[in-house]
Amino acid sequence: MRVVRTVEQLREALEYMRSGGHSPIGFVPTMGYLHEGHASLLRRAGELSNTVVMSIFVNPLQFGPNEDFASYPRDEQRDLELAEREGADIVFIPTVEEMYPQAIRTTVSVASLTTQLCGASRPGHFDGVTTVVSKLLHMVQPDYAFFGLKDAQQVAVLRRMVSDLNMPVEIVACPIVREADGLALSSRNVYLSGEQREEALVLSRSLRAAREAILDGRARTASEVRQVLVSEISTSRLAEIDYAEVLTFPDLENLGDNETLASVPGEIIMALAVKFGRTRLIDNNVFIPK
Ligand code: PAJ
Repeated sequence: MRVVRTVEQLREALEYMRSGGHSPIGFVPTMGYLHEGHASLLRRAGELSNTVVMSIFVNPLQFGPNEDFASYPRDEQRDLELAEREGADIVFIPTVEEMYPQAIRTTVSVASLTTQLCGASRPGHFDGVTTVVSKLLHMVQPDYAFFGLKDAQQVAVLRRMVSDLNMPVEIVACPIVREADGLALSSRNVYLSGEQREEALVLSRSLRAAREAILDGRARTASEVRQVLVSEISTSRLAEIDYAEVLTFPDLENLGDNETLASVPGEIIMALAVKFGRTRLIDNNVFIPK
C-alpha cells in the first residue's frame, strides 16, 4: 500500500498502476476516522477493481461555520492500518493547502436535490461535497467510485452531478453498515455519551416501525409514515428531531397528501436527522413501498 500526500505523487502512483495493466480503478473518498462502514466500501471496491484508491480528507468546504470541522475526529495511524487490512493500494491524504492552494472560485452545485433534508439544515454543505468530490474524481480518474447509502442524499446528488456533467465514472452505492443493535456506524458516534448512545437506537427502531406499519397497511401515506417515525422518536427524552421525511428516491420529491405510497412507481426514502445534545445523527431506509 502506498501513502501519497500530494496530487503529483498521486498521479505518479496511478500512472504506475495503469501502465502495469492494473485497471479498472476503484475510488473510495472518505474523511477518515474509519470504521466498518468505510471498510465495506473498500471491500466492494476490491471486488470490482484491480486498484483501490482511498482518500482521507476532512473537507472544510462542506462544514458550516458552527459545525465540527476543527473537532472532527482524526486518527491517521489507525486509518492506515484499516486501509491496509481492507486491501487499499493507494491512500491519498492531502493537506487543506494541497487541496485548496488558492481561494476556490470554481464550485460545483447541484440544484433542487440539495435544498431539502440535510441541504435545508446545512446550507452550503452539498456544494462543498460536490466541489471536493469533483476535484477528487479529476485527480484519481477512477472507473468506479463507492459511496454508502448511509448518506443517501449524497448518493442522489453525486449521481446527478456525474450524469449532468458526463463524468466518466460509475457511482456504486453500498448498503448501510450497522452495529449489532441497529445503530448506523458513523465517525460521529464517538461524540455520544453512554445515555445518548442508548437512546440513539430510536433512529433505526423508528425506521423499522415505520417499515412494518407500511407493510401491514397501517401507514399508507407519507404523513401517516411521518407520524409513526415521530411518535417512535419521541419516546426518547434526549432526542431532538431535525427532520423526519418521506420522499421519492432518488429525485427527493414530496408525495401528495392523498397519494398512497403504493402508487409511487419507484423507490421511496424515509430519512431522519436527530440531535442528541450537539451531536446530529442521520439514518434512512430506501425501498420499494410494496
Ligand atoms: P465520510 O463521512 O467519511 O464517509 C465516507 C463514505 O463512507 C461515504 O460514502 C459514506 O456514506 C460511507 N459511510 C459512512 N458510514 C457508513 C455506514 N454506516 N455504512 C455504509 N457506508 C457508510 O461522506 C463523506 O465522508 C464525505 O462527504 C466525502 C464523500 C468523503 C466528501 O468529502
